[in-house]
Amino acid sequence: MIKHTINLKERSYPIYITTSFQELGRTVLSLRTGKKLIIVTDQNVDRLYSEECVKEFEENGFEVYKHVLVPGEEHKTLDAVYGIYKKLIEHKLDRSSTLVALGGGVVGDISGFAAATYMRGINFVQVPTTLLSQADSSVGGKTGVDFDGHKNAVGAFYQPKLVFINVNTIKSLPKREVSAGLAEVIKHGLIMDEEYCDYLNYNAQKILAFDENVLQYLAKKNVSIKGQVVEQDEKENDLRAILNLGHTIGHAIETVQNFTLLHGECVAIGIVGAFKLSYYMNILPETVLEQVKSILLKYELPVSLPGMDVEKVYKQIYHDKKVKDSQLKFVLPKRIGEVFQCTIDDTALLKRVLNDLAK
Ligand code: GLY
Repeated sequence: MIKHTINLKERSYPIYITTSFQELGRTVLSLRTGKKLIIVTDQNVDRLYSEECVKEFEENGFEVYKHVLVPGEEHKTLDAVYGIYKKLIEHKLDRSSTLVALGGGVVGDISGFAAATYMRGINFVQVPTTLLSQADSSVGGKTGVDFDGHKNAVGAFYQPKLVFINVNTIKSLPKREVSAGLAEVIKHGLIMDEEYCDYLNYNAQKILAFDENVLQYLAKKNVSIKGQVVEQDEKENDLRAILNLGHTIGHAIETVQNFTLLHGECVAIGIVGAFKLSYYMNILPETVLEQVKSILLKYELPVSLPGMDVEKVYKQIYHDKKVKDSQLKFVLPKRIGEVFQCTIDDTALLKRVLNDLAK
């Protein structure tokens, strides 16, 4: 089992990376919390892993409850949180109890918010089962739900007490979802690790074959890159925003397309948009843009969205939460492995990029 620590003073926590759920109960027991524990999961993950996880916890002396959510981003709402509160109250969980999020990013976001707010905060453990959540959302403490069509509008920063990654859960995912998760993985290389990007470029076959050692290596790299950023800027006052490479355009596309595209797919298109902006601004050569597109394509990720409604996406970008004082902030690449943040007020330039992406 690999152990990586996220250093956030009194909110520091370990991330365990391994190839099964063995040791899940023992590692959570080491937190020395109360005996009551609730697993929050969704219908898909429940069928696959709940039984094994419940057994792990029961064998380690926990009194285990379970709450099953309806899967999908469209159910990432306050109603879902309400259902969790009801269950927590029904079984009299208190501040010594533990809430375990077993599932992907949506499960983690909803249940993290419930854990952050129930009785002003109970112990929270993330057991991410998708590549996207293992690489990104389970680390760093962002929790929350969508509200009235606004993505992640209601939420809290609330760090887990522990993250437990069983890399083999990736094997049960549809291929499309694996690719979407890889967009966030590639993003990590693009923002701060050129060598990692090279690795992803030259090892696509091995990665897509789910070699256990390769998956553990990826997980370790992802949590350490993300961890480095979160440790310096936990609450996204500045540096953490670099993790949003590709997200300004990506989030807008995700909303305009009514969540029919996966988050990672939209991020991939957004990453191409960010590299195009840098290219048109003479910050990097076209060869770099083409290199990034070719890496994304190796993982069967989209690099454009033919027929995309440019005006709608453009308007949505301005509704995005990153618009502050009507200025539009972008994370742009300087080269592969280095990004910077800037404000873009050149409407024509942004529309040129969106038009390119719509071809
Ligand atoms: N997914 C971006 C962040 O956690 O800040």
